[in-house]
Amino acid sequence: MKILFYDAKPYDIESFEREREGYPDMEIEYLNTDISVRTAALAEGYDAVCAFVSSELNADVLKKLASCGVKLLLMRCAGFNNVDTKAAAELGITILRVPGYSPEAVAEHAMTLAMAVNRRIHKEYVKVRENNFSLVGLMGLNLCGRTAGIIGTGKIGAAMAKICHGFGMHVIAYDKYPNPSLDFIEYRNLEEVLSGSDLISLHCPLTIENYHMINKESIARMKNDVIFINTSRGELVDTDDLIASILNHKFHGVGLDVYEEERDNVFENREDDILENAVVARLLSFPNVIVTSHQAFFTKEALAAISRTTLKNAQDYEKGAPEKENLVC
Ligand code: NAI
Repeated sequence: MKILFYDAKPYDIESFEREREGYPDMEIEYLNTDISVRTAALAEGYDAVCAFVSSELNADVLKKLASCGVKLLLMRCAGFNNVDTKAAAELGITILRVPGYSPEAVAEHAMTLAMAVNRRIHKEYVKVRENNFSLVGLMGLNLCGRTAGIIGTGKIGAAMAKICHGFGMHVIAYDKYPNPSLDFIEYRNLEEVLSGSDLISLHCPLTIENYHMINKESIARMKNDVIFINTSRGELVDTDDLIASILNHKFHGVGLDVYEEERDNVFENREDDILENAVVARLLSFPNVIVTSHQAFFTKEALAAISRTTLKNAQDYEKGAPEKENLVC
């Protein structure tokens, strides 16, 4: 099988080349550039393309891929809300993804954000380097004994719930499909989780139903001084409402690994660019907000699992036996 790999970063190449040793018949060509209508034309002669969560896989791009003879889209990620799956199905393109490559990687980052923003580590790091040892502005909250509210208790939410439990927190959660094996969690409805939690962490996928589920009404239900963490998808949160509430001193801290309009920034070095996106600039101006660059997944273990499963997905597809859980369409 010949695979064209878009938007390849050095760590992707290293990780995929290490795993590829087990697949001598597989050819992979790595491209720096991400996929677009223009660059999709480069897939002529390839059986499959490999893309990521930040790639724009709309109907036009998929049509171009189909016209080049591409039959398989290998998503090296769990989420696929950036893919027009209806168009892919109509064009006969199979999509395989990597669900649950390392839920702990994402959950540990969610807790890292919560801890860092809680104790203002981002401020302290800079301050101490400037010889400023004052504690003013650094007051945190004990997490032990407080309530964590997890929205979505699938693989990542379950891992986050376990971490919060380990911190001595009382864990409540909302999920359409509660997981009875998580017997330390008290399932509640969404409103109760919003109003009863000191730390709220989003771990549900983005769907048509939950676009902007965190908006001025849902934020108004939250406790004052809550810590809010989003490592799921930016569009779950109405950023303008979030900013308005931060300005009203609603939150003790906000940690965002994902945010609306992140696509142009994700994994790019834009330090010489003038910030065009006022939303990101505004978020970065608050002392109690930390933004990271969609990096929650980024651990050695997760990258190895992503490469392993992506290559196995390609092989399983060739054998006509793709794993059901990995099959998007
Ligand atoms: P999963 O499919 O194992 O679990 C998702 C859970 O959310 C399910 O239990 C489902 O019933 C629940 N759910 C669906 N809609 C809901 C709603 N409206 N309200 C409450 N719960 C709802 O998915 P997993 O692996 O835990 O991933 C969760 C999300 O994390 C992904 O969809 C993705 O958006 C995000 N993610 C972020 C990464 C990062 O690097 N920042 C990396 C990987 C995933």
